[in-house]
Amino acid sequence: MSKQVKWVKEDPNNRFVFWPTEEMKKRAWVSDESIYAEAAKDPVAFWAARAREGLDWFQEWTETYQWNPPYFKWFVNGKINASYNALDRHVKSWRKNKAAIIWEPESVDEPSRVLTYNDLYREVNKFANVLKSLGVKKGDRIGIYLPMIPEVQIAMLACARIGAIHSVVFSAFSGESLRSRMEDAEAKVLVTADGYYRRGKVVNLKPNADVGVENTKIEKVIVVKRAGNTVNMVAGRDLWWHELMKKATLYCKPEPMDSEEMLFTLYTSGTTGKPKGIVHNVGGYLTVALWTSKWDFDLHDDDIFWCTADIGWITGHTYACYGPLLNGATILVYEGALNFPEVDRWWEIVEKYGVTIFYTAPTAIRMILRWGEEWPKKHDLSSIRLLGTVGEPINQDAWMWYFNHIGGGRCPVIDTWWQTETGATLINSLPGIGPFIPTVAGRSFPGATHDILDEKGEPLGIGEGGYLVQKSPFAPGMLRGVYKDPERYKTQYWSTYGEKIYYTSDGAIKWDEMGNIRLTGRVDDVMKVAGHRLSTAEVENALTQHTSVAECAVVAAPHDVKGEVPVAFVVLKQGFTSSPELENSLVQQVVKAIGPTAKPAKIILTDALPKTRSGKIMRRILKALVKGETVGDVMTLMNPETVEDLKRKVGYSK
Ligand code: WTA
Repeated sequence: MSKQVKWVKEDPNNRFVFWPTEEMKKRAWVSDESIYAEAAKDPVAFWAARAREGLDWFQEWTETYQWNPPYFKWFVNGKINASYNALDRHVKSWRKNKAAIIWEPESVDEPSRVLTYNDLYREVNKFANVLKSLGVKKGDRIGIYLPMIPEVQIAMLACARIGAIHSVVFSAFSGESLRSRMEDAEAKVLVTADGYYRRGKVVNLKPNADVGVENTKIEKVIVVKRAGNTVNMVAGRDLWWHELMKKATLYCKPEPMDSEEMLFTLYTSGTTGKPKGIVHNVGGYLTVALWTSKWDFDLHDDDIFWCTADIGWITGHTYACYGPLLNGATILVYEGALNFPEVDRWWEIVEKYGVTIFYTAPTAIRMILRWGEEWPKKHDLSSIRLLGTVGEPINQDAWMWYFNHIGGGRCPVIDTWWQTETGATLINSLPGIGPFIPTVAGRSFPGATHDILDEKGEPLGIGEGGYLVQKSPFAPGMLRGVYKDPERYKTQYWSTYGEKIYYTSDGAIKWDEMGNIRLTGRVDDVMKVAGHRLSTAEVENALTQHTSVAECAVVAAPHDVKGEVPVAFVVLKQGFTSSPELENSLVQQVVKAIGPTAKPAKIILTDALPKTRSGKIMRRILKALVKGETVGDVMTLMNPETVEDLKRKVGYSK
């Protein structure tokens, strides 16, 4: 560790604390600590300055922030277009021929694709015209069910250009998951692909898309030819992307959108079985997407920014599409698996393109770490100058390994806390300011205010664990609602501490006087499985659809690599008996209903679930069992004897 000694200090808790070097400070967009105090003095003015400086508005807003709890608006009456800001203004500048997207296919034998800003601009304009020619109008919802190919960014930006609302669904989600989302969104068009590559094999996407379209309002399905696999095209409904694009005209006027009109919805898991459509509006989202990309990752024109998240998640939306493109940056997009053909594929890509900013999830780091440091060592990773993580708390070992073996001990690790709901990062250290502390995400982004409260709503002191909340003025990129479900918006986010305090459902600890925060994980029934957000209730819904299941409860169990995995406790209906085939068919039921990410790690068949006298399943007990924690008092249960039985089955005997 000799190289970085000059910027390593130890804190009183015997924990490494890294500070930016002079060189990092010099390069950084922000390196003066006073930015925090300045923004805190007048957050509304701070965001107004950011929105004005960073974005081109067709019409300036008349009011910066309006708050009618639990609703708020930003840049009221401002007119803006996302696609114009991500493309047109760069095309009018020297960036016209700069690479916007470098795309790496999974197959090493296939050539990569580079789209300059001008290329991307043309494709987006053309696809916007394609959508229009199919009758898509401002406000219509468009489903996007695509793998990581440039057509995904093209489709998103084309929707944004004409004011259509995109709703991207993760391509590894099942057809049934797609259908429930498309049904709720009442989408008119679906954009999908024939297939894509995963670990050298073609995954047929189109059959899933067909399931997703059934009994929805989708009129047209546009299919990108990616893998060349045979697909069934439904006459009158299904159209090939490349054929439509051939005929499309080159320019489409960007639609001036009201700042508070919708840019997209993205479905995410909550505590019930039904995913909710998180609503993001144009003006506020663009402001935070742009500035967090620029400041968190210290994004400059000569950077190559690689965010490994799939576009189906909010991280993909904000940091593999909108944020960097608004900044006129170059992004790298990789289609395939991180371990194909070998476990050093990511490092091969970093070396090949000279990636400078690398942003991934702790679960991936833990997996790579297990494969050993010899894999990254085979490659020259010296182009990297900044590392990021997102999605779940990062353990110290993974942080240190990432810092040493990927960052070569030179690069700050920016641990970014945020949610689908927040639209962009909200708690993290800034590269020119620091400090970078393993397991401590950092401070609230300038202009955002968080607090950690106890159950009664009292603010907690340093070192005390409680619940993370956000206070007004809420960061401009925060959700504006749950699609078609205002009640859920209110109960989920604005009921725990009232309508004036945004409740995150995350546990957190105030780390120090400076305002650094350590996140400790979700406090509700939302799991993070290999970085994927899933609800235990969704898995339960899937299982109860199986003919053999009388009742079930799913809880998250800790996992060394994936962070968390679902474990299912299942009571079978009479007449069904346990067998490996039956267990497998239960697992397959979940895969079919949700997708492989939700696969239960273990199915525990039991005669009964622990219940209160009023018949409520005691999840607290099941959670304690899978975590190996003390179960506590079971005497209030209707059936305390089941706990003993379950202890044996889980393999836990405290
Ligand atoms: C968790 C992902 C600790 C958190 C952008 C949050 C984190 C949920 C971090 C949102 C982090 C995200 N440290 N926990 N740096 N980042 N989380 O909607 O529990 O997929 O509530 O958004 O991920 O997950 P989502």
